[in-house]
Amino acid sequence: ANEEFTGNLKHHLSELFDKSLKLTVPDVAGVEPLVAASAPEKPGDYQCNNAMSLWSMIKGKGTQFKGPPAVGQALTKNLPTSEMVESCSVAGPGFINVVLSANWMAKRVENMLINGIDTWAPSPPVKRAVVDFSSPNIAKEMHVGHLRSTIIGDTLARMLEFSKVEVLRRNHVGDWGTQFGMLIEYLFEKFPDTDSVTESAIGDLQTFYKASKAKFDEDPDFKEKAQQAVVRLQGGDPIYRNAWAKICEISRTEFAKVYQRLKVDLEEKGESFYNPHIPNVIKELDSKGLVKESEGARVIFLEGFTIPLMVVKSDGGYNYASTDLTALWYRLNEEKAEWIIYVTDVGQQQHFNMFFKAARKAGWLPASDKAYPKVDHVGFGLVLGEDGKRFRTRSSEVVRLVDLLDEAKSRSKTALIERGKDKEWTPEELDKTAEAVGYGAVKYADLKNNRTTNYTFSFDQMLNDKGNTAVYLLYAHARISSIISKSGKDIDELKKTGNIALDLAEERALALHLLQFAETVEEACNNLLPSVLCEYLYTLSDRFTTFYSNCQVNGSPEETSRLLLCEATAIVMRKCFHLLGLTPVYKI
Ligand code: ARG
Repeated sequence: ANEEFTGNLKHHLSELFDKSLKLTVPDVAGVEPLVAASAPEKPGDYQCNNAMSLWSMIKGKGTQFKGPPAVGQALTKNLPTSEMVESCSVAGPGFINVVLSANWMAKRVENMLINGIDTWAPSPPVKRAVVDFSSPNIAKEMHVGHLRSTIIGDTLARMLEFSKVEVLRRNHVGDWGTQFGMLIEYLFEKFPDTDSVTESAIGDLQTFYKASKAKFDEDPDFKEKAQQAVVRLQGGDPIYRNAWAKICEISRTEFAKVYQRLKVDLEEKGESFYNPHIPNVIKELDSKGLVKESEGARVIFLEGFTIPLMVVKSDGGYNYASTDLTALWYRLNEEKAEWIIYVTDVGQQQHFNMFFKAARKAGWLPASDKAYPKVDHVGFGLVLGEDGKRFRTRSSEVVRLVDLLDEAKSRSKTALIERGKDKEWTPEELDKTAEAVGYGAVKYADLKNNRTTNYTFSFDQMLNDKGNTAVYLLYAHARISSIISKSGKDIDELKKTGNIALDLAEERALALHLLQFAETVEEACNNLLPSVLCEYLYTLSDRFTTFYSNCQVNGSPEETSRLLLCEATAIVMRKCFHLLGLTPVYKI
């Protein structure tokens, strides 16, 4: 069975216990093996917790067993022999503690070193997924909420890509709202010669947006013209389309600066893209009897919601929901996506719940939200300032993301210079490291929190080189790399010829954690929770520190084995960095 081993200890053990369950209680069907990694202070490496619940299913029904511990004993006895399992013991009310074979674990790590970490990737049951993330609104602020969406969405996309899922990374930008009427009209007023308008002439689109909004609010003539502009734009008037395209282009250039700094890939398919398809989709929903008239508007009533979902406004225009229903239809039917993931703040949860429900009613999605094709709304909390309020600048403006990233980089550069690195490194090295550390710190500080909670943005905290920060983790990896290079050994050669021995508790604990990478990524990916991977990475660096402070590597009799453990740790750390969108550094 070792040939089929996917690197996932939990799966492998579950399969063994599944066989044992079928042998032990052949009459009881449909019992899933309950296998979980044990807490570090517990006697075994894994636990199987089926005995107690099984007992409650079979007691009083003429079973041969005398109680849950006896069920546990039988499950243990019927466990197929496997090189993986060293021993099993039943404790307390029937917990089965499984101790893994150190020799087997060592072989699995050696195997990864030879065949690569991709052999530890999860395999979700989908071929193609859409991750809809970042998705700022044109001409409006790209704020820290969009930064969260960009960072979280990129990680989810990376985890799926690692799992060999084709990911359509979609930037669902807001490029089709009624705000364009006033923007275009304002553009015409400020720049009668629209074609020659450049980005620098408009300057800051935010300021431009504010100015046009102010005019819209105080000048009834302008308001009237702006409203007509929307009609012309949506009617396809080339002059208005042109002006619209210009404004979008300027925004796009701004957004691109953020994506480029963060090294995030996105393909823009904005709201406007779906607009031509909306009438057909509404027609289809209508033909299924879902669309009703309500106060001049057209709506879909949904059980469990106090308000209906509006799909056509009373003036005949479309809205956020009509666009999202159409985008979903497109992604399912035209793009054949089997998993569609939306990353926005939790404030939009109701919107998603409602149009998901409408799609189920229309039969586009299966009734169960666990079945594929599947949709998920990945909601996240607010970014707070150190004053506990919404994160703003001192003059309570929205923080410009480019400024924020620039500051992260310059602070980390200052810290490197304080440590004298400007004297040791070339200016390029200094700059690259400052970027890796600065941007990495921003990303990691976001990702390590359970995404649904609010988190406090603090440069001091995230750039601290101690504690659970990107800085600490990137440095830990650099230290491991330098242990390996200082050994003077050809590590690629060692991988082929050397062996790992896990004799000491610290070596064993490190190897076990390395092997738990596969099930951790799988969990993070299934539950769309990057924080699970961050926690794993932090623990890994902790296990490594314990190992390294107790086990001499270079110059010891166990040097080869321990260097291989160092290398395996570095590989797993780098894969975690990759999945979290961090760039590893090799020197500190
Ligand atoms: N543009 C929206 C906003 O800034 C986010 C769009 C999210 N994606 C979607 N398909 N609704 O809030």
